[in-house]
Amino acid sequence: MLDRNSYALNIAQQGDALELLRSLPDGCVALGFFDPQFRELLERQQYGNEGVSRQSERARLPAMTPGYIDAVIHEFARVLKPSGYLMRWTDKFCLCEGRHLSIPPEVLKVVDLIATDNERIGMGYRTRCRGDFLLVLQKPPIKAKATWTDHGIPDRWVEKVDRADQTVD
Ligand SMILES: C[S@@+](CC[C@H](N)C(=O)[O-])C[C@H]1O[C@@H](n2cnc3c(N)ncnc32)[C@H](O)[C@@H]1O
Repeated sequence: MLDRNSYALNIAQQGDALELLRSLPDGCVALGFFDPQFRELLERQQYGNEGVSRQSERARLPAMTPGYIDAVIHEFARVLKPSGYLMRWTDKFCLCEGRHLSIPPEVLKVVDLIATDNERIGMGYRTRCRGDFLLVLQKPPIKAKATWTDHGIPDRWVEKVDRADQTVD
């Protein structure tokens, strides 16, 4: 395991998220972001265009298991300061299945939800996907007014990304 001296601070890191988090001391950050590499929905539903281009590239990436994702979230809870926040990205399938409920509210409590809208119609057997969700989790003690000072943030984010020069990582 790497120790905290192995990582230069305030630059983009490369490596394993769990290893990085484990190198950090308790209660050292006010805010974390976690956009896990999961593809449960794609694995569950074999859409017609799964075999081509971007989706097949994505399917080859190693995904994080639910157990790994939970382990990362528990480490986030440890490194967060009291009343600190974790912004956890999730898709519709994982949200409706309640995957986030595997983390007890005593560890991190869901205190808000933001829906993203990429303005690009996606896949779906019923409604078609046009964005994801951001669970706002807070470490106890739960405090709103004392911790959230920007009251201009809406719970719908519309952001169309120009994919013309994007590559799959
Ligand atoms: C859903 S994408 C997040 C994209 C990111 N929000 C962005 O805008 O670039 C998940 C990312 O997790 C990375 N990843 C996969 N396994 C990882 C691991 N064990 N530790 C750290 N990062 C990992 C992938 O390389 C991928 O870039």
